[in-house]
Amino acid sequence: MVEKKHLDVGNLTGEKNKLFIEYGAGRAGLSSFAAEKLKEHIQDDKSKEKSIKFMIIDRDTRRRKLDKTFRDEFETFREKMDIADFNLEAFISHLQEEGKLVKQNELYCIAKHLCGGATDLSLCSILER
Ligand SMILES: C[S@@+](CC[C@H](N)C(=O)[O-])C[C@H]1O[C@@H](n2cnc3c(N)ncnc32)[C@H](O)[C@@H]1O
Repeated sequence: MVEKKHLDVGNLTGEKNKLFIEYGAGRAGLSSFAAEKLKEHIQDDKSKEKSIKFMIIDRDTRRRKLDKTFRDEFETFREKMDIADFNLEAFISHLQEEGKLVKQNELYCIAKHLCGGATDLSLCSILER
């Protein structure tokens, strides 16, 4: 269980562009919670909203319920795929080529309640970058 008081977004809302990637997101509850806190902190600052993006990965797309609670403010990409097939570097390059992501980004890889196998795959995906 994520203790809400433990998420301090104060130092996550600087000038740099940020990409949050949630692995095995399911309904994207963790991204939704992070987005809620970011929204509170940046208070409708459109340039900051534009600089923050979310990427949600899950092989099951049945549970998209929470995406809509933050995709209006923060550009959000959802990929229905197995983490084993997700190439983080290629994904970032692709978004940059399409002009959807600037060159310099702070990357935040997040996950909650992943099984051991998916945790291993996520860590490999991050380390392979
Ligand atoms: C226990 S659920 C947790 C969902 C969400 N993170 C949460 O906290 O509510 C595990 C999620 O990981 C996804 N998952 C497990 N292995 C996966 C894999 N290899 N690739 C993509 N998604 C995976 C499942 O589809 C499921 O949505």
